[in-house]
Amino acid sequence: MLASLLLLVPLAGAVVIGSRANTPPCPGYKASNIQETDHAVTADLTLAGTPCNTYGKDLQNLKLLVEYQTDERLHVKIYDAEECVYQVPEKVLPRVADSDGSRKDSALKFEYQAVPFSFTVKRKDEVLFNSSASNLIFQSQYLKLRTWLPDHPHLYGLGEHTDALHLPTTNYTRTFWNRDSYGIPENSNLYGTHPVYYDHRSQSGTHGVFLLNSNGMDVRIDKTENGKHYLEYNTLGGIFDFYFFTGSNPKEASIEYAKIVGLPAMQSYWTFGFHQCRYGYRDVYQVAEVVYNYSKADIPLETMWTDIDYMDRRRVFTLDPDRFPLKKMRELVDYLHDHDQHYIVMVDPAVSVSDNGAFNRGSAKGVFLKNQNGSLYKGAVWPGVTAYPDWFHPDVQDYWNDEFNAFFHAETGVDIDGLWIDMNEAANFCSYPCTDPEKYASQNNLPPAPPPVRPSNPRPLPDFPADFQPFAKRIYQAKHGLEGRNLINPPYTIRNGAGSLSNKTINTDIVHAGEGYVEYDTHNLYGTMMSASSREAMQHRRPDVRPLVITRSTYAGAGREVGHWLGDNFSKWSHYRISIAEALAFASMFQVPMVGSDVCGFGGNTTEELCARWASLGAFFPFYRNHNELGSISQEFYIWPSVQESARKAIDIRYRLLDYIYTLFHRQTQTGEPFLQPMFYLYPEDTNTFTIDLQFFYGDAILVSPVTSQGRTSVDAYFPDDIFYDWYTGIPVRGQGANITLRDLDITDIPLHIRGGTIIPIRSSSAMTTTELREESFQLIVAPGLDGTASGSLYLDDGESLQQEATLEVQFEYRNGILRVDGKFQRHINVLESVTLLGPGKHRRSREEGAKKTIPTNLELSKPTEIKLE
Ligand code: GLC
Repeated sequence: MLASLLLLVPLAGAVVIGSRANTPPCPGYKASNIQETDHAVTADLTLAGTPCNTYGKDLQNLKLLVEYQTDERLHVKIYDAEECVYQVPEKVLPRVADSDGSRKDSALKFEYQAVPFSFTVKRKDEVLFNSSASNLIFQSQYLKLRTWLPDHPHLYGLGEHTDALHLPTTNYTRTFWNRDSYGIPENSNLYGTHPVYYDHRSQSGTHGVFLLNSNGMDVRIDKTENGKHYLEYNTLGGIFDFYFFTGSNPKEASIEYAKIVGLPAMQSYWTFGFHQCRYGYRDVYQVAEVVYNYSKADIPLETMWTDIDYMDRRRVFTLDPDRFPLKKMRELVDYLHDHDQHYIVMVDPAVSVSDNGAFNRGSAKGVFLKNQNGSLYKGAVWPGVTAYPDWFHPDVQDYWNDEFNAFFHAETGVDIDGLWIDMNEAANFCSYPCTDPEKYASQNNLPPAPPPVRPSNPRPLPDFPADFQPFAKRIYQAKHGLEGRNLINPPYTIRNGAGSLSNKTINTDIVHAGEGYVEYDTHNLYGTMMSASSREAMQHRRPDVRPLVITRSTYAGAGREVGHWLGDNFSKWSHYRISIAEALAFASMFQVPMVGSDVCGFGGNTTEELCARWASLGAFFPFYRNHNELGSISQEFYIWPSVQESARKAIDIRYRLLDYIYTLFHRQTQTGEPFLQPMFYLYPEDTNTFTIDLQFFYGDAILVSPVTSQGRTSVDAYFPDDIFYDWYTGIPVRGQGANITLRDLDITDIPLHIRGGTIIPIRSSSAMTTTELREESFQLIVAPGLDGTASGSLYLDDGESLQQEATLEVQFEYRNGILRVDGKFQRHINVLESVTLLGPGKHRRSREEGAKKTIPTNLELSKPTEIKLE
């Protein structure tokens, strides 16, 4: 015994791993003082034997709290009796109220075993979670809990990752440690942390398990030698704060998750327009040229973006005086605004350590992160040596608001409409321990020399008509947390793709201002805290409108405040394909519905074919932006004729469907019911759909089945046992629960099918901007289901106000040949021009000719109405 204990004492500086093989098995805990009511269970948990101290010290005394929060939600919290261990701050994730559920009525039942302590969560008699798979370990720097899984588990979630939507079930590790992940590697930790998984069981329903913990973590999914599947949490700290939630199907489970982490933010109508961006626009003239070229090519450009190129030596809150002078920037923004277009720029968290206003003001307020000895913590990012705002600092919000107010001032600054925040994992190019960031910056050419200033204004621009003036108006369309921990190299190693915890990011031993949280515990929150502060700063500038903030790094609940783009993908087919699974997980399972990838790919050179395909696929993601890396070939949609055509066609459909998207997106912000959905969300009993992640539903009504490989002109699309209608022809497709090969798809085509049983409001025609689009009249498409009925809805508001005064919220019901329109008509709707009825019927002559019938209506929808269609 003594010998094995001695082996546990690490020699100074020695790696302790060798001793672990010889440690006694961890004893687990014993439950006592158990108090049970119909609403809650509490107990004391005491270490049940000799500590094993594998990765830090075993805590002797824990507590258990179980709350039947609602009939569908159970909260199980295992925490230290002293309450010294770090817990995710309420400020970052406000806790959902416990609404007096009861064991009697709950769909979920908690049961426990006292010695060694373990618990199960059941739905009726079915075991959903069973922690008896191993003894609970709760140490100062390591927590472990393992649950058994069913034999053939269908698991989803645990993002952010670029693996299949349906997670592998053997030898699979998901690591949570946010990092700058250029090239979005598979089987690796990426930019965000969403420690929630969904377990879908076709016979009994879908449940989710959310572990509210922000520490570095490996979640392992595998099977034992006896072939039993399990899921195991290996966490570097924090507590076990579980939320179990259940629904009779995946949609309901997602709705339950939204109740825990919060409903996503509603976005303005214009944000669903098409966005163009790139890294490497050399000056404001080139940005203007792109705006012009889109117009000339008749491709609707809603929002122009500018990357860090606009900054003076890449310093945030500065403008390059030669390439992006304020006067021209203001002219550009005015021009865009005069044409109902929008403008967005990037802001990074890292502030250049140099004589510049943002740094000087931040230093005066003391809002930057400091080393433990009180000196300024420095890293190296785009502008060279940088300081990082401490989002826990009590004055950081004022600082951020002031910088935004001044730099993005409507009358004197760059009057942006939305914001792009990046590098907020937080990224640091300089490897740990980064003792000499100055040297790193100079050796790595940070910031690089900007391109030479071009002869400017007025200057001849290639291909421009003689009368074109780019800027003239044109008319066209610690202390918190346990002490004594090794915050830099914890004894347990998670599988961080960047190596040690502090590598390529902020040092994990940094203590934050305010409550004194350490970066070791809060690292995964940095991006989401920057998101919240940035949203508030944007709202400070324009208090009445919904702020659009697109972030790279996220934590659970981020959707309440921001949208997310999927980071630095490459221009390759595998990244085109995986973007679907990524977007589906964010939109439906993590409740971050404003999501999209860099269309045509960020890194490397795209090809005409890939870009044409991506231009149409991207149009069916909520956030639609073309973005490209410095040094890659240009990939604006107007560059190739085929890409132009693909973009025009897809944007035409997207815009005609914009109110449908807006309606369903709005529904998600009110109820959590997901808008962008995997196929199994709508066919939860069809096991064939469980692994499909190359087709998806855009809203409840539109099945998107893109071509997903190079050189292909066909796609094998799965059609569940249901009726669908080809979007383009209206021809019915009777799904048989099998693949149908869709053929003759040139690179500008994307197959779309309307699911029977739905009614879709569309605009009569598309437009060059979403402002113009809102002037168009409406049409309805009625797609009867197998039972001959259909339903749908339409939500309209002013398109941008945080508080809406008058809205239109109508429901459409079709049955027995009659379409009924009912609801709330506070707002004027543009005329309902016509209704198109799809499907076979007595008026149909031939299959093609009879696939649809359009009935002119010319109605003002201001009151409940009935329209006879058959
Ligand atoms: C990061 C971003 C990328 C951006 C670049 C320069 O790599 O992910 O989108 O273009 O930084 O700011």
